[in-house]
Order: sequence, then C-alpha cells, then structure tokens
Amino acid sequence: MRRKSVVFALAAAVALIWAATADASPTKRFDRTTQTCRILTFHNSGWVSRGAKLFKQECKSCHFRGNDKGAKFLHSGSKSMKGWNRIFYKRYVKCARDGFWDRIDQEDLAQINDYLYRNASNSYDPNDAEDCG
Ligand code: HEC
Repeated sequence: MRRKSVVFALAAAVALIWAATADASPTKRFDRTTQTCRILTFHNSGWVSRGAKLFKQECKSCHFRGNDKGAKFLHSGSKSMKGWNRIFYKRYVKCARDGFWDRIDQEDLAQINDYLYRNASNSYDPNDAEDCG
C-alpha cells in the first residue's frame, strides 16, 4: 500500500516537472520601445516565424560565421532574454549606432526581438521568464 503511494507521488512529481519544463518558453514579452505586451507563440516567434526569417535577412547578412565585416557570429542563444530586449530598446550596439538598423521598420525589429527573446540562452528557465502585462 505504502509503496503504491510512493510510486504515485513520484509519478505526480515527474509529471509536474515535465509540465513545467515543457511550458518554460516565455509566452509574453514586454516591448519597452512601443510599451506593448507581445504574445509569443511558436507561430509568431519560433524557428519558422517571420521574425526568424527577418533575423536571417537583416542581421545574419553580417553576423554569419566567418564573415569579413568584423561582426561576431550571432544566433538567438548568444544573449539572454533581458540582453536582447536591452539591445533592441537602447540600440547601443555598433551596427545600430552606425545606422544599419534604420531601414528596418519598428514592427519588423519587434518581430526579430520576439524571435531572439523566445529562443534566448536562458529562455528555457521558467524562473527567469520576464513577466509582463
Ligand atoms: C552591415 C553589417 C551588420 C548588420 C546588417 C548588422 N550588424 Fe550587428 N554588428 C555589426 C558589427 C560590425 C558589429 C561590431 C562588432 C561586433 O561586436 O560584432 C555589430 C555588433 C552587434 C552586436 C554586439 C555583439 C556583441 O556580442 O556584443 C549585436 C548584439 C548585434 N550587432 C546585433 C545585430 C542585429 C540584431 C542585427 C539585425 C537587426 C544586426 N546586428 C545587423 C555589423 C552588422
């Protein structure tokens, strides 16, 4: 009898942990530039999203491995969620200051930010997901 309840408790714990890790990707992002709460789904910020495509087009054109533009190799996991948000809000990185982001409109930048945020280095830690809304 007692053994049964131990097994049950263990199974419940495993199920809980599994559910927690499965749900860990952030589901929202507060965008300080536009002061809006953005809802993140796989469709609008996952690997096949428009943001992912725009990142490849607009950023990876320089930031690919072995480029000759003096740009570091970058991928979504290069920064933390907060790190990416800070970069897009403050725009202090060299390429942004040099005007290379100017032709990208605000919504496109926000979508690139959504993609990078959702897939950032620490985006799978549920305790670190930024809260918003
Ligand atoms: C014309 C080439 C070019 C384009 C396009 C470009 N960058 Fe850059 N970026 C650079 C260069 C050069 C630097 C300075 C060297 C470095 O730190 O990588 C830089 C720096 C950075 C840094 C700082 C790197 C670090 O680890 O500190 C980040 C982050 C960054 N860029 C992100 C982006 C994003 C996001 C986009 C697209 C919206 C983008 N860049 C588009 C050339 C570019």
